[in-house]
Amino acid sequence: MSIHTPDIKRVTTHIIQEMKIRGEKISCLTAYDYSMAGIVDAAGVELILVGDSASNVMAGHETTLPITIDQMIYHATSVVRAVKRALVVVDLPFGSYQGNSREALNSAIRIMKESGAHAVKLEGGLEIKDSITRILSAGVPVMGHLGLTPQSIYKFGTYTVRARQETEAQKLLEDAKMLEEVGCFSMVLEKIPASLTKKVSESVTIPTIGIGAGQHADGQILVLHDLLGINKAFKPRFLRRYADLNGIMTDAISNYIKDVKGKSFPNEQESY
Ligand code: KIV
Repeated sequence: MSIHTPDIKRVTTHIIQEMKIRGEKISCLTAYDYSMAGIVDAAGVELILVGDSASNVMAGHETTLPITIDQMIYHATSVVRAVKRALVVVDLPFGSYQGNSREALNSAIRIMKESGAHAVKLEGGLEIKDSITRILSAGVPVMGHLGLTPQSIYKFGTYTVRARQETEAQKLLEDAKMLEEVGCFSMVLEKIPASLTKKVSESVTIPTIGIGAGQHADGQILVLHDLLGINKAFKPRFLRRYADLNGIMTDAISNYIKDVKGKSFPNEQESY
């Protein structure tokens, strides 16, 4: 399908949807730069999210609110350059789509045109239906995001589990059905009870991608830097660390410093 890499079959939104029908779990991760995205893609995930978590992970902000559309395009462009197979989805940042569907469309079009990504993700339900519908009408695939939506952190006041109460759970279920009805190709469910994830996943035909949402989602996503153990301080219950890169990197850098100070680096073979 790709002009540049004819041997590799690209993952499309249709393939993601067929995976749900087959009962095959969908693996997703975030990436924000060229080097990491190349590794993640080659390892074989189906979907790479250029998340606005770049605001925390890459820029060190406390929340996802400060990241701009230009910064998201910078990250997305770097990721797209590296990726040969995975579907690349990009977060619309805070303030670029809420309350004004025309602005939402312009934001989505900018991201698609300038980065070459394949789809966008928006946080929220009924409140942003007009924005989602308008973006979809331009032929841009949309991924929804319900449950804990970090762009609304100042409304929630905390990052704890969402939709434990029946009224919030009911609204989330209705929002999920709306996302399916208007034509979203999938949705993220963040930090909600596993039983609610099961209910939602059985109630909609589009794939659900969980983070802190239990085993019943059709796929899973984690922030790459969390999975790799780069940030030691972040250890929520849902996170499984697959490596201790913080430790490995610290050891490597300490050894380098030791060799420089001890004058053993560079040696003759490493010189011209
Ligand atoms: O921005 C992000 O990384 C996300 C994931 C946590 C789903 O939205």
